[in-house]
Amino acid sequence: MITLISDIDGTILGDSQGLFELNGFLNENRDKFFIVYATGRDITEMHRGLFTEGLIMPDAAILSTGSEIYTVENGIFTPDTEWENTISVSWNKKAAEESAEQTGCMITQGKSEKFKVSYFIEPSRADEIRRMLECRFKENNVRAKIIISHGKYLDIIPENCDKGKAGEFLIKKLNKPAQSTIVAGDSENDVDLFESFSQGIVVGNAHSGLRLAANNRDFYMAGAHCGYGVLEGLKYYMQRFQTV
Ligand code: GLC
Ligand code: MG
Repeated sequence: MITLISDIDGTILGDSQGLFELNGFLNENRDKFFIVYATGRDITEMHRGLFTEGLIMPDAAILSTGSEIYTVENGIFTPDTEWENTISVSWNKKAAEESAEQTGCMITQGKSEKFKVSYFIEPSRADEIRRMLECRFKENNVRAKIIISHGKYLDIIPENCDKGKAGEFLIKKLNKPAQSTIVAGDSENDVDLFESFSQGIVVGNAHSGLRLAANNRDFYMAGAHCGYGVLEGLKYYMQRFQTV
């Protein structure tokens, strides 16, 4: 059985025909895949994906940029409290929010997530804003990780957490081998997935931040975009698994 840990936006979603083909392939081979979505979306946005955007039901989900893990049975999402306990140790949401406000250049996304605070930023100022926020964190003694994706989304999550660490935790807990895990993504908030696993699909429309991180490593760089790109990569790996 293959564990597929895939980002949603810009990876599985983004091209409706590609989504249709990918879903068809996964449904046909459903018994061969343990499907995990790994996304910056929260649980409400995850459900919207399932009920109005055409995503198929996964077996587990890593939400809010790795800060929430759910296992899924009969369509019911159950949060993993062990993961919550692991990442909550150094987390101070209020201090993280205050530090962000002090920079004066972030617009809140207005979401309410337990272990993630997210903002919109001006893409041309992304590096400068990251440095400013890091200084505030130092001053305020905040231990947290900053992830900027697409230039404009800035997520703050606990320091010992990201999509990759959540993926490692999940497969270990479920006794799934890392050798048969394939990750897939398109942007900077997926970089950690590619750090944690050695097989992965970078879709053709991926951002330079992920391309650079994946460079010179043995990942599959798809030519096709979004769902078609994931499909291209899955077919490549399935053939490779058969020949080893
Ligand atoms: C999704 C989330 C948003 C986050 C972004 C990047 O769009 O809804 O909160 O900032 O992913 O991780
Ligand atoms: Mg994405």
